[in-house]
Amino acid sequence: MRLFLLASLGFAAAKNGLDGWLRYAPLPCSHQCHSKLPSNIVTLNQTTRSPVYVAGSELQKGLKEIYASHVQIHHGQHGQCKDFSAVIVGTVAQYRKTCGPADEVPHLDEDGFWLNTKGSHVRILGQNEKGTLYGTYEYLSMLAQGNFSDVAYSTNPSALIRWVNQWDNMDGSIERGYGGPSIFFRGEKIVDDLARVIQYARLLASVRINAVVVNNVNANATLLAPENIQCLGRIADVFRPYGVQIGISLNFASPKTFGGLNIFDPLDTTVIKWWSNITNQIYQRVPDMAGYLIKADSEGQPGPQTYNRTLADAANLFAKAVKPYGGIVMYRSFVYDHNLNQSNWKADRANAAVDFFKHLDGKFNDNVVVQIKYGPIDFQVREPASPLFANLLNTSMAIELQVTQEYLGQQSHLVYLAPLWRDILDFDMRVDHKPSSVRDIVTAKRFNRKLGGSAAVVNVGTNTTWLGSHLAMSNLYAYGRLAWNPTDDPEDMLRDWIRLTFDLDRNLLDTITRMSMDSRPAYENYSGNLGIQTLTDILYTHYGPNPASQDNNGWGQWTRADRTTIGMDRTVKNGTDFSGQYPPEVAAMYESNETTPENLLLWFHHVDYTHRLHSGKTVIQHFYDAHYQGAETAQGFLDQWESLQGKIDHERYEHIRQRLEYQAGHSIVWRDTINNFYHNLSGIADKAKRVGNHPWRIDTGWPFRDCFWLCGYCHRSNDTAGTATTKLHFPSGMYDLAVNYYDLYGGQSRWAVYLNDRQIGRWLGNTEDILSHTPSIYLDGHSTTRIKFRRIKGTKGDTLRIDGTPDGVEPAPLDYVALLPHGVVD
Ligand code: GCU
Repeated sequence: MRLFLLASLGFAAAKNGLDGWLRYAPLPCSHQCHSKLPSNIVTLNQTTRSPVYVAGSELQKGLKEIYASHVQIHHGQHGQCKDFSAVIVGTVAQYRKTCGPADEVPHLDEDGFWLNTKGSHVRILGQNEKGTLYGTYEYLSMLAQGNFSDVAYSTNPSALIRWVNQWDNMDGSIERGYGGPSIFFRGEKIVDDLARVIQYARLLASVRINAVVVNNVNANATLLAPENIQCLGRIADVFRPYGVQIGISLNFASPKTFGGLNIFDPLDTTVIKWWSNITNQIYQRVPDMAGYLIKADSEGQPGPQTYNRTLADAANLFAKAVKPYGGIVMYRSFVYDHNLNQSNWKADRANAAVDFFKHLDGKFNDNVVVQIKYGPIDFQVREPASPLFANLLNTSMAIELQVTQEYLGQQSHLVYLAPLWRDILDFDMRVDHKPSSVRDIVTAKRFNRKLGGSAAVVNVGTNTTWLGSHLAMSNLYAYGRLAWNPTDDPEDMLRDWIRLTFDLDRNLLDTITRMSMDSRPAYENYSGNLGIQTLTDILYTHYGPNPASQDNNGWGQWTRADRTTIGMDRTVKNGTDFSGQYPPEVAAMYESNETTPENLLLWFHHVDYTHRLHSGKTVIQHFYDAHYQGAETAQGFLDQWESLQGKIDHERYEHIRQRLEYQAGHSIVWRDTINNFYHNLSGIADKAKRVGNHPWRIDTGWPFRDCFWLCGYCHRSNDTAGTATTKLHFPSGMYDLAVNYYDLYGGQSRWAVYLNDRQIGRWLGNTEDILSHTPSIYLDGHSTTRIKFRRIKGTKGDTLRIDGTPDGVEPAPLDYVALLPHGVVD
């Protein structure tokens, strides 16, 4: 094996993120790597819109950028197969036809490929054209990472459903999207310029995603208008050469709300006919449409329950319509009652999926796949795997993941998700006392079902970073890799992604790897641990902290926290019976708080705050400590990133630095909000005396409190600036000055800070434009933002002044300031 590990090229050219991990950065190539430069590219299909043709063009582009050399493409004739040191790309069948026997190629499953770089030729042969394109991206990925080893291997997908979902609305907005407006829709129509769609297709194909549902699960029926169906065809035409099919989400009530019928009963013949007509029209324009995605009877969406029909009746209605075209129906199991009564101790939203679906097992047509969110509630930082995976033995299933970080920092926080997904995929349900990992269940290896796989809600937008943050793209990359091979190692995938996205520099690689691998544990620590869920504001933006919002409403994301106890009792013996939904071995584990893994303790058990964990700590002390630890880790991300200055182009370096600085501040907001909440509720002191005790802050009284009121409520846009002053009472020395302020949506206030009338900093309240999360219109945990001015020399008795100038509805509000000696986080 020859592996040339190349030194980094040093300073990578500025990049805006559009190419994602397909940058093909030039390699500082020695003559050894040049010896691996192919002389020609031979593609075995000359139809320009075929994936094999695209593979040829992609190779040419990649080689040109990596090697700075132009390599000719030939479109397959026999003689060229013998061309010395060519790369030959095509399907196994095309190769046999044009080039001769392919006896060395092992058996390939649908979409699989064989890559052979040994000998004089490179051969990339797919079972089908899609597979050939996947193999081409694999080869380019090796080269771009400076890996010129001689390899010969085949790889096959774990499952045929490797989909992404976009929650794009026809008006161009994206539900839970943080990367700007839709690349597909604007003003209730499909956009004319589909250039971004081509680039999305490239990214998806390169990680072997084979279908994209283009519109929101909360679907708008107008997508079915004839002109929109025609335009859907344009989108499908763009994706097709990349081997990506399109699918669409449907609104269940469309026959009535859009089609002019007075009914949408799935068993009514006029309704059946209506859907069949619409389906025929769509397939006329998009003959290879992957299928439909259905959210029904959920969160106010219409569904079959209106007519006392079952969910299977609904799914099968669509399944029959798409069957003649080979389409499938992804029917979401996210069905629950969002008006639950918390005074009923037995009520539990987590029970809903099994309650709604288990009795229907075996009643779904064979082209229906039940799409199941990974956990029983809703994309939380930690949930047990949904028990529904172990309850549908005769129904095809797919797991639903979320690349868009709805509850997990909305791309303004770094949270690398592959470890979370692997926790779920690896979980062993022990069905019939046999190994039954979720990954084997959803890929249909365990239980013999026809279809299976995964879908991830991605929600890229028109932002050049796609997701709103460069670092968040590791999640899309890792999702594709796991959809293909759910045993891929999160750290290995990450390292590949970093080399492809940034550079081969060893120190850069280790640093971004460490930060990313630490990011989910950190986020869990400061946002909600021991299985209590992400303690965000579930009634508003799902972004910042608001533990009070979990309880006393019908949504069922309860914690049941009171003055002495916390946690949902989901046991059979005394609780909601949820643990009983798992197969016996797993149910027994969760039934007892002794055997429940502690990171899920409060998911399954209602305990005293003084309950002792295995560590000997009480639950409440664990909360306090974990929140401090999580926020401290997040402070470290910024330092680690700053150690990379000069190794990354300025544009991306700054973009990420800004976000990590913001995250460092916001993790403190999370830490304090949650710790203060439980401290106030329980009255139990923090043994380390940190909670409620902030020696380096100025916030508890006049004058900043006064300013808070003044700026927060008195000023309007035309008012003059508000001013707050205080005299420093800290010992003289060098400090970092942290200012916590509220950055609201609807205005860009200006602040300036002075020490003894000398301006030491100023800033604008514009995070709504430069960061990626949903902005807030209130003074709350979402809008609280911290800015830091470093190395300020302060003398006891100095005057610190902050002037705030309101703008729009934003009244230049301040929260507090802190003067931080070196190394102190307060
Ligand atoms: C969450 C999310 C909604 C979304 C829903 C779904 O509740 O907040 O925006 O519509 O999930 O998955 O259908």
